[in-house]
Amino acid sequence: MKQLYLENLPELPFNVTEALNQLRISLGFSGENIQTVMVTSSTPNEGKSFVTMELWKMMAEIGSRTALIDCDMRNSVMGDTVGFRTNDDLVGIVHYLAGKADLKDIVYATNIPNAYLIPVSTNVPNPTVLLEGKRFQEIIDVCKEEFDFVLIDTPPLGSVADALNIAPKTDGSLLVIRSGETPKKVVENSINLLRRTGAPLLGVVLNRADTSKNGNQYYYNRYYQYGYYNNESYYGKK
Ligand SMILES: Nc1ncnc2c1ncn2[C@@H]1O[C@H](COP(=O)(O)OP(=O)(O)OP(=O)(O)O)[C@@H](O)[C@H]1O
Ligand SMILES: [Mg+2]
Repeated sequence: MKQLYLENLPELPFNVTEALNQLRISLGFSGENIQTVMVTSSTPNEGKSFVTMELWKMMAEIGSRTALIDCDMRNSVMGDTVGFRTNDDLVGIVHYLAGKADLKDIVYATNIPNAYLIPVSTNVPNPTVLLEGKRFQEIIDVCKEEFDFVLIDTPPLGSVADALNIAPKTDGSLLVIRSGETPKKVVENSINLLRRTGAPLLGVVLNRADTSKNGNQYYYNRYYQYGYYNNESYYGKK
């Protein structure tokens, strides 16, 4: 299998690791046959990729063979965030969907034991047709056989239909909400959109929640809470 070295794997503060760990455990209790989970949000920059990558690492650490499929084909930043290094040509999901690569060429083992990655490698302006083709379903089916768990990072719901296309092919989705930023109406609209896909909404992740004040967040309390560590971005400000 091809190898990808992830150069930038910072340690997270304890409370963030703990909140993510609770999310991982909650996800484990969300249903018996939940194996493929899509992560999305309503608007850009709410923390989808951050949550997906951290869950991926944690699941791998506890010994689950976990694949992360980067489906943010328009604007993938994963390579910049974790700093890919590989001796092979970086070939990714777009190559496979376009019929230019085999599955074995796009699945990478990483320096995190049990963590496998299908990267984007080349951003494309309009992946809709690619996502609707049968090759995308094939990736999901093969990953389900090969791995214990599959996480899928996507673009935001408010911008493009990609996540709505992906959701029905998965066992369920997680909606990431940036605490204090995303309006309640926007979140409600996203929940309705996801419900209409027929795939279960497994939970909502309240990202960057300031757990020190229990102000006006009752609306979110029904869902997973995911910790806060500061108002700055962890991997650098956007
Ligand atoms: N809980 C957090 N604490 C601190 N920084 C965070 C947190 N969650 C995300 N960030 C940072 O915020 C920025 C945006 O996060 P991320 O890229 O995960 O968002 P996204 O929803 O995937 O954005 P996009 O819509 O562009 O794909 C990143 O720099 C990330 O490191
Ligand atoms: Mg992202």
